[in-house]
Amino acid sequence: MKKICAANWKLNLSPEEARRYFVEWSELKPSRLVCDLVFFTPAYDLPAAAEFAPAEGFHFGPQNIYFEMSGAFTGEISAQAVHALGARWALIGHSERRTLFGETDAMIAKKVKAAMAADLVPILCVGETLAERESGQTKKVVSRQLRAGLEMIVAEFALARHFAIAYEPVWAIGTGKVATPEQAGEIHAEIRVELGHLVGQKRAHEIPILYGGSVKPENARELAAQPDIDGFLVGGASLKPKDFFAIANALR
Ligand code: PGA
Repeated sequence: MKKICAANWKLNLSPEEARRYFVEWSELKPSRLVCDLVFFTPAYDLPAAAEFAPAEGFHFGPQNIYFEMSGAFTGEISAQAVHALGARWALIGHSERRTLFGETDAMIAKKVKAAMAADLVPILCVGETLAERESGQTKKVVSRQLRAGLEMIVAEFALARHFAIAYEPVWAIGTGKVATPEQAGEIHAEIRVELGHLVGQKRAHEIPILYGGSVKPENARELAAQPDIDGFLVGGASLKPKDFFAIANALR
């Protein structure tokens, strides 16, 4: 399976800064990288990504979509419209969406389905909070988020369409506290087993499972060596082209 390195810029970089970023990115000669690259930018930076993507061989997409394609939904983002801009991926159910914007498992399931219906590859994010980890609930929480998030697509799309999972322990996001390769590896293996129950063993091995949470050039190689880690979702360190390049370069 081809590994994936995804950047989550969050609410950072204006369109002008995004263009400067991609110029700097191109200068690093990203064609040397062997993984797939996806940039999740703020919605207003998608046109900048679209200008550079064909030449540089990367994909891009929004950090969130709505589950309706159009209508009276002030402030929301249409999966169909971003697809028309050239986006091919969508980040769904990031923990910041869940905790800061009240996204529920049920909404996230509809968004996964909407992404697929619009021909976007969804990356479904799952992960436990510190309190959940400390009370021994990690596997239970991750399994619930996975089952709920994929519920609406298992019958219809899951066998035929591409999608990915990102495991991001909430306590490791933006905190500098990275999960140890063993901690991450254990949950990734568990996610693979769960996926096997949902879509069958063979298909489960074709679904990339990304790790996210304080991934940096210094820890990327060790994490990448875990057998069930198929790529990264990178927040803070993706804002510097050189750091993001170094992380992507660890995925071989
Ligand atoms: P971080 O964020 O790399 O800054 O920890 C990861 C994410 O939220 O996707």
